[in-house]
Amino acid sequence: MLELYKSEFLKYLDARVEIKEPKNLYEPIAYILSLGGKKLRPILALMAADAFGDNYKKAMDVALAVEVFHNFTLIHDDIMDDAPLRRGSKTVHEKWNSNIGILSGDAMLIQSYQILESYDSDTFKKLLTIFSKTAIEVCEGQQLDVDFETRKDVSINEYLKMIRQKTSVLVAASLKMGAVVVGADEIEAQKLYDFGLNLGIAFQLQDDYLDTFGDPNTFGKQVGGDIIENKKTFLYLKAIDLGSKNEKETLEFLFDKKLIDNKEKIETVRTIFNDSGALSQTKFAIKKYTDKAFELLDEIDISDEKKVLLRRFGENLMTRTV
Ligand code: IPE
Ligand code: IPE
Ligand code: MG
Ligand code: MG
Ligand code: MG
Repeated sequence: MLELYKSEFLKYLDARVEIKEPKNLYEPIAYILSLGGKKLRPILALMAADAFGDNYKKAMDVALAVEVFHNFTLIHDDIMDDAPLRRGSKTVHEKWNSNIGILSGDAMLIQSYQILESYDSDTFKKLLTIFSKTAIEVCEGQQLDVDFETRKDVSINEYLKMIRQKTSVLVAASLKMGAVVVGADEIEAQKLYDFGLNLGIAFQLQDDYLDTFGDPNTFGKQVGGDIIENKKTFLYLKAIDLGSKNEKETLEFLFDKKLIDNKEKIETVRTIFNDSGALSQTKFAIKKYTDKAFELLDEIDISDEKKVLLRRFGENLMTRTV
């Protein structure tokens, strides 16, 4: 069933992508959308609609809107993070240039709103309220993420707030919007949102983990990119917390500026993350937030069959390598 949501969505997406003039605006959009990716936000939107309604396909345009929005954030994020690779291929700004990435991204943000125009005006209004709130929160999270690169005093709580905004709210909103289009009860839809928030935090923690410890042959992004960019991830903050005086000083020195020899930096940081216990604490936190999500899922008024499916989806996220 999980595969069905994805294949149905891919068919829908494929039929909607067109390359118009000017090519330098539309080709990067078609490019990023055709690179693959897990499609987790669309799948969640369709699952939510299926859990609360009798026709999950009503959420197809929600699924499309959240995926187009997500891909817009990826193009801009890759410029901000100076990332060379996305889904195993060149990033848009590497293949074209940053100006093209900025404008194609802008157009995708607008397209994501346009896609929602297919809903009746009552539904459209409800969707817009959720979507706009989410989009602003993602911007706030993204700015915090960049601000943290040059800060030395980031706390775990600040980090958790940042990833909640840059990542979790979109995961949560995908679920809630999928529920809204099939007329789900407001309170139940909100419970699904809260499930998504916790799943999203576990998801971003896992993303941070893979960025440092993932397999370069399968990960699809530059392994070590967060270390190169001095990102204050959960791994880093925990290592500062738990590490010896020497480990802490080494980390602070290495994360103070951008370095030339990143290969050695990445190796040293990986060793400290491992030895300090930060790695195992991160694994523990991923499990903790996933379990919290599952607890919330249990409270939602949907069939056990749909709960099992959402749970399986969450479990797959926790053990993913991409
Ligand atoms: C990447 O999202 C950005 C984050 C929020 C971590 P995904 O890991 O969902 O990326 P794709 O769409 O599967 O490539
Ligand atoms: C991305 O966080 C969040 C958004 C794209 C909004 P990351 O910068 O960690 O995402 P990746 O690792 O590049 O996919
Ligand atoms: Mg990035
Ligand atoms: Mg980023
Ligand atoms: Mg990342």
